[in-house]
Amino acid sequence: MCGIIGYLGKNEASPILLESLRRLEYRGYDSAGITTIHNGKLFVKKAAGRLVNLADLLVKEPIRGKIGIGHTRWATHGKATTINAHPQSSNNVSVVHNGIIENYKEIKKQLIEEGYFFRSETDTEVIPLLCQKFLDQGYSYTDSVHQTVDLLKGQYAICFLFENNDDLIFLARSGSPLVIGHSRSTTYVASDALALAGLTKEITYLEDGDTAAISREGTTIFDSSHKNVHRSKTFVSINAIDLQKGGFKHYMLKEIHEQPKALAKAIQTVTSENWLDEASVGNLPLDEIEGVNLLGCGTAEYACMIASYWFENLAKLPGRTEIASEFKYRDPIIKPNDLSIFVSQSGETADTLSALRYVIKNKGHNLSILNNLASTMAKESTYSLPIHADLELSVASTKAFTCQLVILAGLALELGKIRKNLSRKEYEQYREGLLNLPGYINIILDLSEEIRKIAQFLTECPNALFIGRGLMFPTALEGALKLKEISYIHAEGMAAGELKHGPISLIERTFPTVVLAPSDYLFDKTKSNMEEIQSRNGPIILLSDARGIDDVGKDVDFSLTLPKVHPLLTPIIYTIPLQLLAYHSGVIKGLDVDNPRHLAKSVTVE
Ligand code: M6R
Repeated sequence: MCGIIGYLGKNEASPILLESLRRLEYRGYDSAGITTIHNGKLFVKKAAGRLVNLADLLVKEPIRGKIGIGHTRWATHGKATTINAHPQSSNNVSVVHNGIIENYKEIKKQLIEEGYFFRSETDTEVIPLLCQKFLDQGYSYTDSVHQTVDLLKGQYAICFLFENNDDLIFLARSGSPLVIGHSRSTTYVASDALALAGLTKEITYLEDGDTAAISREGTTIFDSSHKNVHRSKTFVSINAIDLQKGGFKHYMLKEIHEQPKALAKAIQTVTSENWLDEASVGNLPLDEIEGVNLLGCGTAEYACMIASYWFENLAKLPGRTEIASEFKYRDPIIKPNDLSIFVSQSGETADTLSALRYVIKNKGHNLSILNNLASTMAKESTYSLPIHADLELSVASTKAFTCQLVILAGLALELGKIRKNLSRKEYEQYREGLLNLPGYINIILDLSEEIRKIAQFLTECPNALFIGRGLMFPTALEGALKLKEISYIHAEGMAAGELKHGPISLIERTFPTVVLAPSDYLFDKTKSNMEEIQSRNGPIILLSDARGIDDVGKDVDFSLTLPKVHPLLTPIIYTIPLQLLAYHSGVIKGLDVDNPRHLAKSVTVE
């Protein structure tokens, strides 16, 4: 949530900051700004709206300086206006900040009483003013920053610049990630190593509580007690090429099409012998596990819901799904033989991270399933498994979701084997089912034009319902989330059986229902729900396999024939057309599908 960039080197900072901010725009995009220092003076430029507005401003009003900080914002405190954009500055201190300062009101009140003047509605503004206060009292830069951060409560990644010092960027990290990138005569700072792709691969990850002083002489890092500390450098393998759209109009479409390849990698992992040992999860006492708690947010939570069916079916293990943001509020009981699984693409989602911390504090077995293995969750979890999706830049989770499902299916299978709930033959059937998935996904991607026509119809309707039974219920929830997130069409996902308990009253000619109904043992029941909808004039969009479509396809408004796959793997297959439906709907409506309004890729505030 929000993106930070910093530069200290020999070249003009502002073009470099702007280019790196473009790579961070997926983290927040309601306003942006940069500060540079030239001839000792701070120059600040900010613009509300997308980054292009800042770029236009900098063309009209360029600023010079070989040191600078930049920010792209996802508003938490105060509207998305230029005045609330970062950097936030006092007379001599300019700051960019990710996170939330929880005690900002008390600090602000105190500073106002002491005569300091606030311009913005942000929580952030207390940081430069507090630091200014300590500088005014004669403290050094280092002491002023340390005194400032000692007073802050909440989570933050902060970069400080100081008037009259074009050789110092100060950093502070607590709860929000911050990295330092090194190249020969240049030092970079970023909230995400991704922003430094093509600039450097040599990265130092700051730890929670760290502060750091960067100058042309070198970097000094301090730990949470402000003592000098060494943090080692690591090499990251993100290439600038990975950040391109590869001929696709949007990242979302590119990432949808990357699924056969990404899934093949994940499937290869989970179908190889002893994959958990190789993934360093071998020490997790899986044979002692008596129950599984699955936690995540948004799309990741729907992956958890699907997986809970798998753990129960394949391993006969009670599987409970939790919305991570609600978990700790009900004082959950962490049983010694339960395994808590945390699912997150970014590994930085604050709600999921805080649930993980709760389980760790209560000494529960924990395992995170992540795309970003350099994330805070990867560092803090006892065990973690990669999902092999590679970079996902579009705000919508697409390939990350299906790759999460593959890893979760692999884990459920492994537990099924360990608990002797699966015969060799059954195991082989699942394995074969998984191995066939990438081919089937390619078939569905070829249905894109057919799906676009359905999207054309959907965009004429203000609302849509997604229904399914069994594994199709959480899949319906995901389909509805994707549609509302990308196309702003109001959509609800629902268990098909729930319709008659209230929501059916909404059905009318302009309220279509997307029915997910593979021809399995639940098909006839879902068919009855379809008839109930049709008798109330509700349009039906049916997703089924050839047998299901043969049965009722002619009676519905739209139908899409999907491959028949192993019954437990249907969520992975049925998700692909739902992603395309959301994508085409957003494009038809002329929306920015990669950066939907009000959203950010990684939600690092609770
Ligand atoms: O990075 P995470 O997987 O933890 O993110 C969780 C959700 O914020 C995320 O899945 C969100 O719901 C997506 N934008 C959905 O497409």
